[in-house]
Amino acid sequence: MPTPLHSDSSLSAQARDILIKNDRGGYTVPTQGLYPYQWNWDSAFVALGFAAFDRQRAWAELESLFQGQWTNGMVPHILFRVNDPGYFPGPDMWQCDPRKTGSAMPTSGITQPPVAASCVRELWELDGCSPEHPKLRALFPKLMAYTRWYRRFRDPLGNGLAMVVHNWETGRDNNPEWDGPLAAVDTSSVGPYTRRDTSHVNAAMRPTKQEYDRYVALLEFGRARGWDPQAIAQENPFRVLDVGITMMLLRADRDLLVLAHALGEQEAVAELQACIARAEQGIDMLWDESVGGFSSYDLRHDQPVSILSSASFLSFYAGVGSERQRAVQLEQLQRLGQSCRYLLPSLAPGSRTYDPMRYWRGPVWLVVSYMVAKGLREAGHHEWSHRIQEDSRQMIRESGFYESFSPETGQGTGGPDFSWTAAMWLHWCGT
Ligand code: GLC
Repeated sequence: MPTPLHSDSSLSAQARDILIKNDRGGYTVPTQGLYPYQWNWDSAFVALGFAAFDRQRAWAELESLFQGQWTNGMVPHILFRVNDPGYFPGPDMWQCDPRKTGSAMPTSGITQPPVAASCVRELWELDGCSPEHPKLRALFPKLMAYTRWYRRFRDPLGNGLAMVVHNWETGRDNNPEWDGPLAAVDTSSVGPYTRRDTSHVNAAMRPTKQEYDRYVALLEFGRARGWDPQAIAQENPFRVLDVGITMMLLRADRDLLVLAHALGEQEAVAELQACIARAEQGIDMLWDESVGGFSSYDLRHDQPVSILSSASFLSFYAGVGSERQRAVQLEQLQRLGQSCRYLLPSLAPGSRTYDPMRYWRGPVWLVVSYMVAKGLREAGHHEWSHRIQEDSRQMIRESGFYESFSPETGQGTGGPDFSWTAAMWLHWCGT
């Protein structure tokens, strides 16, 4: 094992500096250059990092995220507070007019994993669990509006499983889980455009041109429908029940339930209990015996996606799975633990499209590792939780605060000085 370049205390100082450097005044960008705006689930995790040294600033991050919330309850995946020509697709492409959407600034037209409620619960617990917490009281109705938006527009089967209409919504942008469903997206109307991502990081780590055309085609589809959530949910050429969001939404509802109890919000308690019960019943639809795990489902073609990814292991975080399903998932983890030096890869080595350096086709993302480890710990699987935590710590020691890491060498991939990686060190895996 290589000698660590830095002591853990200097890494903690570096992590704090990264968050401070990426702070744009009340909101944080994921990293300079590559991602110059505020991202939904990034901000929620970043709040946990700030909480290690500035609790007020942590709450401010979440409050600022909800300034982007639409009147219909959706929290967009990107909030465009400034116009940065170094990013594509920017506000001019999305054309989400704040006068129509109700958000405080232009935003993208799609959402991202709803982890905000779970992060709010963590902040509230760090603050001592007071039912009189004014910041929690102010955020609670907004969090409820967000989960209701998911249930209203993104639960097409009414069984608690969450549908996505763009692969960017999943947060695991170009995981091979989306390859099949995306292949059917018609790109013939996509005009010329200039990507910006490949001028910030190595193109070999980023999606291909053909993949990008499909992402743009989906954006243009939603835009042509004025971002009407009903029309998009019914007609979109990409409609997938995402195992990741389904698990994170279920977890968010469980965390919201705890908050609703504490606040004495009886109506919300009943509503959340019903949502949770539906999802617990519905989840079996995502169990895929052929791959031995929970996996996404392509609704448009009515067929399972049949690919295991890091998101499959979020079942522990969501608190679902029969005894047998859990045992099978643990066997999979065991296999991964043997084939990878560092857990938890976004895709298993040996899969046809596995690439340890390419976005979501192999590299380890610490925010997913964190949620999976938390779920495993809560389920009593301490060795696995510990292994994932230790591997995460070690990759940061060896490579610094990269966006993601090769599961084989621990080498950093994607952008450097990354906010959510710094946050995960401060909140979870640093010493
Ligand atoms: C990439 C990731 C996404 C993340 C964003 C900002 O698009 O795939 O999950 O939110 O970068 O970090």
